[in-house]
Order: sequence, then structure tokens, then C-alpha cells
Amino acid sequence: MTNSLSKINDPWLRIVTGASASFAMVTIISAVTIGLTTPKNKSVSANKMAIYASLLAIAGGAVVGFVAGDASFKTDSVTEKSETTSGKEESDTWKGWRNFVVKRKIKESQEITSFYLQPQDGEPITDFKPGQFLTIKLDVPQQERPVIRTYSLSDYPQSTDYYRLSIKREGSPKDLDVPPGVASNFMHDRISEGSIIPCKPPNGKFFIDVATSNPAVLISNGVGITPMISMAKACSHKNPNRHIWFLHGARNGDYHACREEVNAIANDAPNLHINYSYSRPQPEDEGKYHRQGYVDRQLLEKSVIPEINQIHGSSDAEYYLCGSPKFMDSIRSGLNELGVPEDKVFFESFGGGKTKGKAESTAQSAADTAEIVFARSGKTLNWTKDDGTILEFAEANNIDPPYSCRQGVCLTCMCELQEGEVEYTEPPTNEPDQGSVLICISKPKTSKLVLDL
Ligand SMILES: Cc1cc2nc3c(=O)[nH]c(=O)nc-3n(C[C@H](O)[C@H](O)[C@H](O)COP(=O)(O)OP(=O)(O)OC[C@H]3O[C@@H](n4cnc5c(N)ncnc54)[C@H](O)[C@@H]3O)c2cc1C
Ligand code: FES
Repeated sequence: MTNSLSKINDPWLRIVTGASASFAMVTIISAVTIGLTTPKNKSVSANKMAIYASLLAIAGGAVVGFVAGDASFKTDSVTEKSETTSGKEESDTWKGWRNFVVKRKIKESQEITSFYLQPQDGEPITDFKPGQFLTIKLDVPQQERPVIRTYSLSDYPQSTDYYRLSIKREGSPKDLDVPPGVASNFMHDRISEGSIIPCKPPNGKFFIDVATSNPAVLISNGVGITPMISMAKACSHKNPNRHIWFLHGARNGDYHACREEVNAIANDAPNLHINYSYSRPQPEDEGKYHRQGYVDRQLLEKSVIPEINQIHGSSDAEYYLCGSPKFMDSIRSGLNELGVPEDKVFFESFGGGKTKGKAESTAQSAADTAEIVFARSGKTLNWTKDDGTILEFAEANNIDPPYSCRQGVCLTCMCELQEGEVEYTEPPTNEPDQGSVLICISKPKTSKLVLDL
């Protein structure tokens, strides 16, 4: 009954319907019971009992009607399907967190494992642009709060009925005595087929416009391959005439995730040109990679750019980069030296570096000074505009909030703002939860802030 009632939007109608249905049910049952079991001389008191039961049923039904509405509200707020908007993409999307089930878990390389996710509610899922990411939330034991991380969507299915994430197990840095990566190790060790993971909808500004005809060069190393697989697959399926170069660097075959998958795409797509560089190849890798060394400026200069010129008649191409910070820095400066305009180079940083990859602050109305109360740490400190973002200020004062991208992308630094307002230095790529802010890209706007930090 609760399920049917929850479909009625008007609360009064729901309460009246609940009360009437319950009244009718109890009255009929009482009448039949009295008729079958009660001797005539006792029927007056039995009738009285039946009337009380019916009155109770009316009250009970009304309460059920009320609660059913509340239940339907709660369910909606989890999936928050946008039924008012038109168009497939809009109508299939959701807001906030939605539970996904891990349907398959596949080891792709020594360090990388893929997770195939489908929504627990069985409803359609949002299409995404190749290169975008998914935000996930994990309840990791011994962590004070849920651990939020972002992972690129590493596949591009013909019809979007699952999402795939390919996650590298992050060990501790060699030179530091610190714990290994929280989320990635939890995913590898504790998440299995059947596990439930809350996810936010696909998001991100790093994606390829599949319809364009210009050649594109996808350049990655390590786990940076994940958005590139999605891009290569999408272009090969949807715009097979477009020439795409897929350059990937790995230590050797053991660390090269999804090699056979990309080879299979290239087998069916003559315009997808692959080139794998192995820095420390093993004998069994023979014939499975193209050159020894790193993906570097030399590869671009001597091989890729001449090929683009030859096929396309000009060197006009787009470059997409994803990999370790050092790798991306060297490729970006290499492209710059080769005369590739900056607006043709797009990159995604998975974090790990403190250098910001985006434009400098655009905050116009940030305060000049402010008092910031870090409530959990029990510290009240005076911020001035030279202290940078709230994250930088916290770190300078020995408060070490969690962070990853430092660009308003991943939500790792999301923190509840209990008082005051912040000004963003750039619009967040990924919207924080209601009442929370991203401290990696924000400064105080009001003279006092209270943060749950
Ligand atoms: C847009 C985007 C897309 C991404 N896509 C992918 C993807 O497709 N696949 C993927 O694997 N990752 C991806 N990432 C990275 C991912 O979001 C996580 O950052 C990554 O998995 C590490 O998270 P973690 O919780 O395992 O590690 P964390 O716990 O965040 O730790 C990170 C590293 O810091 C070290 N560390 C811990 N404490 C300290 C300390 N005190 N000082 C110094 N170092 C410390 C840890 O040992 C670890 O090596 C993406 C990130 C972004 C922003
Ligand atoms: S650290 Fe990624 S959003 Fe702030």
C-alpha cells in the first residue's frame, strides 16, 4: 500500500486515500469475522469493538499516507531524476549521489583494475562525453568522513548502460613513510562484484568533440590512459574518418593496461594510429610495443607531426594529455617548443602535484582580511589576501586537509561551511554538496568563516 500511496503527489489526497483504504479493509474483515464467529447475544459488544477497530484503522491509514509521501520524497532525493527537462541526456541524469552496483571487476595490469558499474535502481544512466569522469564516495573504515574521489570513465559503450572505471593502486611514495592511497587500495582490496558505490553524474571539462574532423593526438602515460581509451573508442565508432594518434608510455607490458582492447579498436579503425613506448621492456614484450623509451618531444617531432602533415596536409591538430605531472610538464613544453598553439593543447591532471594547471585567480570580491575558525582543529586564524586559497592557508598553519586535484575538480577538499561565505577563484568543475565548499579554489568573501575542519 505504501508503494501505491507514494505515487500520489497531493499530501491531503494521500492521507484521505490511506485512511479510506485502511477503514474499508478493517471494516470488511471485522464484519465477516463477527458474522462468522459471534453468537447473536454478544453481537452488540462485538460491533462496538469493530467500530473502535475501524476508527483506529482510519488513523493508521492516515499516518501511512503521510509517511508514504515522506518515503517517496526521500527516494526521489537520492536519484533526483530530472523529469521536467526534455532531451535524452537531461532526462536520464540525476543530482546528488546515486547507488551503483559493481557488476564486474577485471584486472587490467599489474596496478590497474577495472570496475563496471550499473545503477542499483535499474533506470537509464546519463550519456557522457569521452574524457569525462565519475565522482564516487566510499565508506572506508577508520576514515573520519566518507572518502570522495574522481575517476575517468575508461570505456565508451555503444549504448550507455554501464560505466567503467579503471583504478590504479596507489602505493606510498618511495621516499616517504606515509600510508598508501586510501581510496584506490580500498577499491582493489575491499570492493568486489555486488558492492554498492554512490556516484555523482559524469562531469568534467576535459573531453574530445567527437564530430570535429581535425586530427587529434592522445598522449598518456601510466593510468593516464583511462580517458584516452574512451576518446579513441568514441572517435573510432562515431567519426571513423578522423585521424587519431594514440601515444602511450608504460614501463613494460605488465604495467600497460587495456593494450589488447586498444589494439582491437585500432584493428577495426584504420585511422587510429597507435604507438606504445616502453621504458623498461621485457623479452616477452617483443613485438607488442613500438619503441623503447618514453613518449617525448622526439616522438612527436620525428614521427607524429610529419605523419599528420603527410595525411592531413597541415600540422593543425589537437593534443590531449593525461599522465604523471612530470610527464605532462615535459610534453607541454615540448609542444610549445614545436610551435603548437596553447589553445590546441588540452590536459587532465589526476592530482599529486601542488602546481595549479589552470588560470590564476579571478576572484573579484574576496575579502582583504578574514577570521577563519577551523572548528575541528580548534584554531582561529587571521587570513589576509596574500595567504592564497583556504587550502593553502590551512596547510601553512599545519592543518592538513585532504586534497587531490587542487583545481575544483575532484571534491576531495570539500568541507562544510558553518558560517560566512567564500568566493571562488574559478567556477568549480564539480559542484560541492549543499552547505559545503571546495577550499582548494576559494577565499573568504565575508570577514568571518567557520569551517568544519
Ligand atoms: C579528474 C580526475 C580523474 C582521475 N581519473 C583516475 C583514473 O581514471 N584512474 C585512477 O587510478 N586515478 C584517477 N584519478 C586519481 C584519483 O582520483 C585519486 O586521486 C587516486 O586514486 C589516489 O587516491 P587514493 O585515495 O588512493 O590516494 P590518497 O589517499 O589520496 O593518497 C595519494 C598519495 O599520497 C600519498 N600520501 C598519503 N599521505 C601522505 C602525506 N602525508 N604526504 C605525502 N603523500 C602522502 C599516498 O601514499 C598516495 O601515494 C583521477 C583524478 C582526477 C582529478
Ligand atoms: S582538491 Fe580537488 S576539488 Fe579541491
